[in-house]
Amino acid sequence: MAQLWGGRFTKETDKLVYQFNASISFDKKMYRQDIKGSKAHVAMLGKQGILTKEEMEQITKELDAILADVESGKLSITDEYEDIHSFVEANLIDRLGAVGKKLHTGRSRNDQVALDMRLYTREEVKETDELLKKLLETILRLMKENTETIMPGFTHLQKAQPITLAHHMGAYFEMFKRDRQRLFDIYERMNYCPLGSGALAGTTYPLDREYTAELLEFYGPTLNSMDGVSDRDYLIEFLSASATIMMHLSRFCEEVILWNSNEYQFVEIDDAYSTGSSIMPQKKNPDIAELVRGKTGRVYGALLSLFTTMKGIPLAYNKDMQEDKELTFDAMDTVKGCLALFEGMLATMKFNEDVMRKSANHGFTNATDAADYLVNHGMPFRDAHGVIGQVVLFCIDKGIAIDDMKLEELKQFSDVFEEDIYEAISMETCVNKRLTIGAPGKAAMELVIQKEEAYLKANPGIGTNA
Ligand code: ARG
Repeated sequence: MAQLWGGRFTKETDKLVYQFNASISFDKKMYRQDIKGSKAHVAMLGKQGILTKEEMEQITKELDAILADVESGKLSITDEYEDIHSFVEANLIDRLGAVGKKLHTGRSRNDQVALDMRLYTREEVKETDELLKKLLETILRLMKENTETIMPGFTHLQKAQPITLAHHMGAYFEMFKRDRQRLFDIYERMNYCPLGSGALAGTTYPLDREYTAELLEFYGPTLNSMDGVSDRDYLIEFLSASATIMMHLSRFCEEVILWNSNEYQFVEIDDAYSTGSSIMPQKKNPDIAELVRGKTGRVYGALLSLFTTMKGIPLAYNKDMQEDKELTFDAMDTVKGCLALFEGMLATMKFNEDVMRKSANHGFTNATDAADYLVNHGMPFRDAHGVIGQVVLFCIDKGIAIDDMKLEELKQFSDVFEEDIYEAISMETCVNKRLTIGAPGKAAMELVIQKEEAYLKANPGIGTNA
């Protein structure tokens, strides 16, 4: 047990207490951030004359060596240390002796861990954004390819009106676009540096917090040292944005599962993204989509967990906050994994255009347009709704679509019907007459596609946005 404290103690820590208290098994993930933060801290101590130039250089060089040794596997992060901060400092002291002991001058593990977690999360925000962008590119490709691919649109999971696959995909484009915007907002708010907050009340050393903030590419230092060490809002915001991403992925997965079912057959998931059954030879299951849908729960859980952890903590740092890591790391990995796998599944999925079109044809998805036809010929809408309702009943009885009825049959319900009814209720007409912005009509869709394309160009990634 290598501990950073001991002077005040006359007894060894109980072994179980030590294990219960330790965080190395999970915070070792932050070794890069911890070393990066220490290097910035030391550079600042040197600039301020708190360390000599020589001490600064020695420590910096050794921190780089520790990093290199960890990365090459020469030095492994073992649980004889309490946390990643102790690990780095103890190794530095082993290598440098007295000079190594100066690293922690003017710093507390409280501002250190606050910094490490922020640096770690900032990277995660960027990586998640990149994966979202990749997914948006695939969705946009499908939109471009399918402005004429007719399918039924649903409400209550009942066929409602015809739309196109481009339109359906476009709905998800909007959702994931908002998810990116949320990440961008979070980044803007969180990108301030807590280093220099000390344990809670800053320090008496003349630290230059602006300088460390700049070295670590933050917009500036945080403005209250108590908040600096105890703010975890950015994690809650990131988990909330992550939960929303998962909710969107889960809805999409639910549709893919339905569409891939024997009953729908709208799509076929690629073999590479499907699984078989150990007993039923005929099976090809959508396990990946189901897993993404299922994993949504873990991410929601992480959000609720941290909300609950934070709600009763008096200022400033309390050990409860160590609980901000395990579930958050799990959520971060889960979201990234799900985004990558979902994108791959979507990009390779086969759409059965004929089946989708037939389904639209045979679900009275043009009933609204048939009623509109009557309205356009002078009938009040409520009456038209009634007439078409009767027409639909007639068709259900015969097992046919409205389009299959002869003109004489239609005329029995209303003499307003003429030969042009067939054109008016064709799937193409139903879709392409819907031309308000946001509607599925081809011309409207093409305009939206242009806008989405421009959005992607203007937003290549967090930190690089035009
Ligand atoms: N492992 C701790 C955490 O994750 C580091 C900070 C410890 N600070 C302290 N005063 N005990 O929160």
